[in-house]
Amino acid sequence: MGLDQAKQTDELIRAAKCLREGGLVAFPTETVYGLGADATSEKAVAAIFEAKGRPSDNPLIIHIGSLDQLPLWVADLPVAGQKLVSRFWPGPLTLVLPHRGNIAPNVTAGLPTVAVRMPSHPVALALIQLAEVPVAAPSANRSGRPSPTEASHVWNDLAGRIDLLLDGGAAGVGVESTVVDVTGKTPVLLRPGGVSVEELEQVAETIVIGSSEQYEQGVPRSPGMKYRHYAPRGEVWLLQGKEENVHVCMQKMARDAQGEGHRVGILTTEEHKDKFDADVIVACGRRSDPASVARELYRALRVFDEKQADLILAETFPEQGIFYSVMNRLRKAADGRVIQV
Ligand code: TXA
Ligand code: MG
Repeated sequence: MGLDQAKQTDELIRAAKCLREGGLVAFPTETVYGLGADATSEKAVAAIFEAKGRPSDNPLIIHIGSLDQLPLWVADLPVAGQKLVSRFWPGPLTLVLPHRGNIAPNVTAGLPTVAVRMPSHPVALALIQLAEVPVAAPSANRSGRPSPTEASHVWNDLAGRIDLLLDGGAAGVGVESTVVDVTGKTPVLLRPGGVSVEELEQVAETIVIGSSEQYEQGVPRSPGMKYRHYAPRGEVWLLQGKEENVHVCMQKMARDAQGEGHRVGILTTEEHKDKFDADVIVACGRRSDPASVARELYRALRVFDEKQADLILAETFPEQGIFYSVMNRLRKAADGRVIQV
């Protein structure tokens, strides 16, 4: 064993002990960094909500380190769930399942179901296995901020509020896990994420897209859907339409807004970044490589905060594959502000 590995193991053992003793440990996953606590301890879980400033009616995902832990916390795994588990675990898919009533009630915000996932990141898996407790973990950001995809993002948001931070480099996927409710007849997509709808459909013949009507009626299936999320501090506007129109319109809006004294940011891609003139221009991956756009998205949104852009104009993407999840996050960041050009 090399020195680095030994150090890592030492750190992991310390982190696992910290979790068992009720502490808060931020750790890398393949999607985004998580803020973990022992899911069987109401007190430890309460500390997550406190550190994040998160509303207590928004339930958390529990993370398990091996498949045999699932029946300890979950009362039933329906056939659709079994298929999804065997195809996508470990990985960026979260399933909503009926629980056994033995995890802390504040994990599920009093719901009869619990969201569970088995991450594929080696540090996350090792930590959960060593801790020997299910780990409740939301994204490790202050509530309302973009999710953290690098250890430094966690540090910027939560320094002084957590006990430990494990640095595993940049997260690979960059958007959170896909959340699917499999408690009913047909699986319901509650949050698009790292596993695309097209991939899900290869396994589950039909899948219902959790609709915004549920939200409008005030009873969102996934409580997290009703909160404004992933937002940088500046106001975000999405521009949709023919590529050429988008670019012309964006540049004109940027000029006008600068004329009115705004500090204007532009969210674009490597292919187009040289077309613009504004205060802050951020290339978010390559359009020709959708995974790179997902991977860079939250980092890009954070740059606008650092550089204090108060108006952000963003390019949009076709609603397919991982771009569908990217657009979901962008719409939330924009709080519904979309301009058709
Ligand atoms: O990729 C991820 O999922 C990351 C990493 C850290 O694992 N975690 C994450 O957690 O994104 P969080 O807390 O930011 O998002 C959890 C989502 C929320 O939208 C919440 O409303 C939903 O899962 N959720 C949790 N429990 C639920 C339940 N019992 N029924 C329906 N939705 C639930
Ligand atoms: Mg989150």
